[in-house]
Amino acid sequence: MAHYLRIGNVPHKRHTQHRAPGGGLYYEELMGAEGFSSDSSLLYHRGLPSAISAARAWDLGDSLATTPNHPLLPRHLRLHELFAEDAWRGVDPVTGRRLVLGNADVRICYVVADTPSPFYRNAIGDECVFVESGRAVVETVFGAFEVAGGDYLVVPRATTHRWVPLGREPVRAYCIESNSHIAPPSRYLSRFGQLLEHAPYCERDLREPRGPLMAEDTGARPDEPTEVYIKHRGSGPNGIAGTIYTYPQHPLDVVGWDGCLYPYALNVSDFEPITGRVHQPPPVHQVFEGDRFVICNFVPRKVDYHPGSIPVPYYHSNVDSDEIMFYVAGDYEARKGSGIGAGSVSVHPGGHAHGPQPGAYENSIGAEFFDELAVMVDTFRPLELGEAGRAADDRRYAWSWVGGRDEQTLDGAG
Ligand SMILES: [Fe+2]
Repeated sequence: MAHYLRIGNVPHKRHTQHRAPGGGLYYEELMGAEGFSSDSSLLYHRGLPSAISAARAWDLGDSLATTPNHPLLPRHLRLHELFAEDAWRGVDPVTGRRLVLGNADVRICYVVADTPSPFYRNAIGDECVFVESGRAVVETVFGAFEVAGGDYLVVPRATTHRWVPLGREPVRAYCIESNSHIAPPSRYLSRFGQLLEHAPYCERDLREPRGPLMAEDTGARPDEPTEVYIKHRGSGPNGIAGTIYTYPQHPLDVVGWDGCLYPYALNVSDFEPITGRVHQPPPVHQVFEGDRFVICNFVPRKVDYHPGSIPVPYYHSNVDSDEIMFYVAGDYEARKGSGIGAGSVSVHPGGHAHGPQPGAYENSIGAEFFDELAVMVDTFRPLELGEAGRAADDRRYAWSWVGGRDEQTLDGAG
C-alpha cells in the first residue's frame, strides 16, 4: 500500500534520536517488504523489539495437511456445518481456524469464535480476513481496528496482532492466508501507487489503524510478559510450523510509526460494482491480488441492461485457475437447485466449465438487480482439501447440473 500514513509520536528526521519524556531513547524498527526494496514503515518502540525470553513449539499437528482433489470434482462445502451449535464457544479467531483449502500459494481457513486470540503473527505472508458476521477489535502494533460483517482486514506479514471478539454473537471469519503479499490489483494503481479513477474503490474507502495503541489502552501492563504465536516456514505439513515466543514486555509498545506498510480495512459495501449493457468479464469483480491468486467479490448490483442481455453469467472455463466462491448473503439466482446458500463454498477446478444451474439461464432474463454477496478466490495452482474442506463436503454437488444422483464419496466412487 503506497499510501503514506503517520500515526502517533515520530521524530522530525528519520533515524535520529527520539526520546521519551523521561529522557530515554525509543527504539526504531524498520519493517520492510521484499528485502527493503518495497513498502516499509518505521516503528518507535518503548522496549527492545528483539528481546525474547523464551521459545517453545506451537504444535499445529496435522491441522494444515491437505489431500488432493482427486478424482477431480467440483465440490460444495458447507462451512456453517464446521462449527455446529455451540462448538464455537471457547474458540479464538487465530488458533481455532480450520483449513478448508490450500496450495503452495494460499490457504483458505474458516473459524467461528467468541474468545480473544493470543498475540499472533503470520511470518509466511500477508493475511486477508473477511468477516462474515459478528464484531471484533483487532489490536495491532500499528493501532486498532473495529471490524464487523463485510469487512476485509489486510494484515501484512509479521504484523503482531490479536483478535478480540465483541458482543454476544461469535465472529465468523473467512481467512485467506497468503504465502506472499496481498495488494490492490496493479492495473488499478498509478505508476506511483495511487488508486486510479477506474478502480472500484479508492484510498478514502480504506480504514486505517486507530493508534497509537499501547498496552495500557487495552488494560494490560507495559511490563507484562506476553506470548506471541508465530506461524512460519518449517517442517510441518505443507512446510509450515509454529513457534511461541515469550516477550519480557507487552508487544503493544509502539508510540508512533510512519510509512506505507500497515494493516488496513475495507468494507465490501464500499466496493463499487462495475456493470454494463452486457455481461462484464470476471476481472471487474477483483478486489485484491496476491502471488498466483486473486480475490474478487460479487456485490449487490444492477445487472446487464441490453434489451437482449442474459443477466446470469455465461458458462465459463477458467483454464488456469481453480475458482473458490464463498456465498455470504443474498439470493443466488444462478445457483438455484444446487443446494448452495449462505455459508456455502463452491469449488470449480481449473478448466471445469461451469455456470448457472438448469433453468436459471433463461429464468434470469428480465432481472434488473442481483442481491448477492460472495467472495471469490481464484488460484493459479490447484487447491487441495484441508480437514475442514473434507468435513464440509456435501458429496453431491458434482452431479447437480444433471439433476443430482446418489452421494459421491470423497474419492469420487459411488
Ligand atoms: Fe466461475
